[in-house]
Amino acid sequence: MNVTGWRCATCSAELAVSTPMPFRCPDASADNPRHVLQIVHDDAPVKLADNDSIFVAADLQLAWAAYADAHGMSAGDRAALIGELNAAIEAIDGATFVATRFERSAVLSDELGMAAEGGVWVKDETGGVGGSQKARFLFSILLHLRAAERLGHLTERPPLAIASCGNAALAAATLAKAADWPIDVYVPTWMSDGFGDRLDALGARVHRSERRDHDPPGDPAMFRFRDAVAAGAVPFTVQGPENALCLDGGRTLGWEIGTQFPGEHIDRLFVQVGGGAFATAASQGLDAIHGAVPLYAVQAAGCAPLERAWNQSAGVDQVAKVWAEAMTVWDDPASLADGILDDETYDWVGVVEAMRRNGGVPVVASEAKIEEAHRLGRQAGYNVSPTGSAGLAGLLAMRDDIAASENVVVVLSGVTR
Ligand SMILES: Cc1ncc(COP(=O)(O)O)c(C=O)c1O
Ligand SMILES: [Zn+2]
Repeated sequence: MNVTGWRCATCSAELAVSTPMPFRCPDASADNPRHVLQIVHDDAPVKLADNDSIFVAADLQLAWAAYADAHGMSAGDRAALIGELNAAIEAIDGATFVATRFERSAVLSDELGMAAEGGVWVKDETGGVGGSQKARFLFSILLHLRAAERLGHLTERPPLAIASCGNAALAAATLAKAADWPIDVYVPTWMSDGFGDRLDALGARVHRSERRDHDPPGDPAMFRFRDAVAAGAVPFTVQGPENALCLDGGRTLGWEIGTQFPGEHIDRLFVQVGGGAFATAASQGLDAIHGAVPLYAVQAAGCAPLERAWNQSAGVDQVAKVWAEAMTVWDDPASLADGILDDETYDWVGVVEAMRRNGGVPVVASEAKIEEAHRLGRQAGYNVSPTGSAGLAGLLAMRDDIAASENVVVVLSGVTR
């Protein structure tokens, strides 16, 4: 499979794969940000070379690499760039971009009453860079930026910017430090001091974002982030509409699961959904290797804008056409799973398209299931946060509809330190 370019889900604008900085659709504006560039590729199957780093193994199947190749950067130079950054990341974080663990959890399979021929399979992202899946999404952006520097398409270093108060901010600050690139992190006013200290230690500039009088509904940290981007900062974010390149690296998660699964057939994939980039990219990657695996996009009952949009867009052919009506801000999000309280599912188009493609549905988990999933995840030996076990909560909620012989995958993520 080779990446050939980008196409906007909303307005069908197309960009060649050789385009530098293909972050947002050229037609997106402050008034109408509801556009998202999607990766266009040929129909050939995914082929991964034998290499410890999935980013090296996938090479031209990643958009950043196809861009570099289009401008003459050799395979050796691309691998060297990955290697250099990997070494710097490992020195800071201890982890690096090698395949994370994937295994059948005997504890979870037994607790859920699964049969020997089926079971609960865990992709353990708590051991990933920054303790979550987020760094994968940001690494493809960073690789594109570094390649753009080498190719002379980026002649100075505008600051990186991200709005987040959790795993994405930690991953972003870690990668920025590894690349020695300045970063501004826009956080909500309620962020804990302890978390701020960790971002400080990584050298990030942290901005607490108050709601301003003229702000529309939505997250003030996102507004300040967008202001920074409008002033020239690089959107270093895990939200496809703000930077489509995040969806590029996110697919590595699905490719890894697809190649690590030892059996014949994965029956279902459960993914916790905040902004929705995770579910979009993981599902796309897994389906490319394994055929259509139904995606269950899990949100907490206290913040479920995706299910609302799924219902609102039912029967509409091109879902992005009803973006403004279907994806509306969720009032007063609340859950123990506080990392998935995005009041809008920014990547909802990708998640809905994935579920339509592979036969999945959104799942809304009660707070009791969110708590139970966290308890079970930890009991099974994973140092996971309530956010990172929320996909398992969706599996618990649907358990009665699932045969004991099925093989179901959950992604546990967001290490608790
Ligand atoms: C551990 C963990 N899982 C899942 C998510 C949700 O990912 P996304 O926002 O891409 O839907 C997050 C996001 O913050 C997270 O930190
Ligand atoms: Zn567009």
